[in-house]
Amino acid sequence: MSTYPPIGEQLDDFESAREEGRRKMDWALQHMPILRELREQFRESKPLAGQTIGMAMHVEAKTANLVELLALGGAEVAITGCNPLSTHDDVSAALDANDDITSYAKRGVGEDDYYAAIESVVDHEPTITVDDGMDMVYAIHEDYPELIDTIVGGAEETTTGVHRLRAMDDDGELRYPVFAVNDTPMKRLFDNVHGTGESSLATIAMTTNLSYAGKNVVVAGYGYCGKGVAKKAAGQNANVIVTEVEPRRALEAHMEGYDVMPMNEAAEIGDVFVTTTGNRDVITREDFEVMDDGVLLANAGHFDVEIDLDALSDLAVDEYEARDGVRAYEMADGRRLNVIAEGRLVNLASPIALGHPVEVMDQSFGIQAVCVRELVEHGEEYDAGVHDVPDDLDREVAEIKLDAEGVDIDSLTETQAEYMDSWSHGT
Ligand code: NAI
Repeated sequence: MSTYPPIGEQLDDFESAREEGRRKMDWALQHMPILRELREQFRESKPLAGQTIGMAMHVEAKTANLVELLALGGAEVAITGCNPLSTHDDVSAALDANDDITSYAKRGVGEDDYYAAIESVVDHEPTITVDDGMDMVYAIHEDYPELIDTIVGGAEETTTGVHRLRAMDDDGELRYPVFAVNDTPMKRLFDNVHGTGESSLATIAMTTNLSYAGKNVVVAGYGYCGKGVAKKAAGQNANVIVTEVEPRRALEAHMEGYDVMPMNEAAEIGDVFVTTTGNRDVITREDFEVMDDGVLLANAGHFDVEIDLDALSDLAVDEYEARDGVRAYEMADGRRLNVIAEGRLVNLASPIALGHPVEVMDQSFGIQAVCVRELVEHGEEYDAGVHDVPDDLDREVAEIKLDAEGVDIDSLTETQAEYMDSWSHGT
């Protein structure tokens, strides 16, 4: 049993924190038509009655509305953060004040408390897990395998979590079904691309009070997130440079009109660096050695391993907080290299970070909610392993959103549907 307490037992000013957190949640909910629609449905039919949901996610206002939706659906929910720097304590307090929810998330916890909080969530004996990065699934498989028999399934939010789950699945180690929420169109085409692009760039600009116009912005990795960062940086008049290891992605970036080159060449000319690879050691010592004075280094990938901060610290003769959320590393020759948000995912970990725009998370969390409902209603149809989100669930969420936006679309006529299904029509 973990002794790590809920946030309600940790904050002196719990009441005022709770009120401020509620205000943030209310604002977000006004702009989340999908979650509002699902709230109506869940409140009415209580599809999650009797379930206990254990969550490790970025605890801020948008996530909080998902958590409350799951509780409205009849579940008991226990949640903690999935990154030591992304929690908003006031939002965590607002959640913890709900009788059906216990929140252990607290900003700025050290490694021991981070994992102790995950343990506290697991102590609730979840029947469903919802993760962003796979820490909850990992903790259960490693330390609490006895819970697995009663777990119906899980849902995973991000690329890195899905990578880890697929690796676990390939090794035959994943012992319950998990939906790859990240990979479904309603999530990945919007959250990873537009969400990461907009919120990472906005956070870097706000944290530093600097502009992109006329600068060389180096984007490491041209996957879904990298595409978003590159496109939005170009839209703010930056010259975009892409680094890649995958030839087709590199070619895509080249055909999009961006400069493509190895990191060590980009390091010589870049002004702002944003890593989006989900990999480690993407910017390393040999890159720091050739960078200009004043460069900004930020990571938008899930873990803080993309920029080699140990090597940077090693090279530095001095380190200091240049601004809130900006740590300057001064080199022997006087150059200052500035790391934002400790190299943790910048759009959530910078002191002023708010994460993705609300509209985008409405979609991602709409998918999370229908996946949890699917596990309760049809969990026995899914074997242990990683599963794509069923297409009809993805469409359901898209339809709610289009409806909310007042956008009508055509539908196939019977003849068209037949034509599309047929292989016998030729020229
Ligand atoms: P992705 O798999 O579509 O793209 C990653 C790209 O990085 C690939 O094209 C890969 O070839 C490239 N890459 C790998 N190693 C590299 C290296 N050493 N140098 C250059 N390129 C390299 O993944 P996606 O969806 O773009 O996600 C990337 C990361 O961002 C993941 O860690 C994911 O969890 C995280 N993420 C962060 C979000 C945020 O809010 N900041 C939101 C969504 C995802």
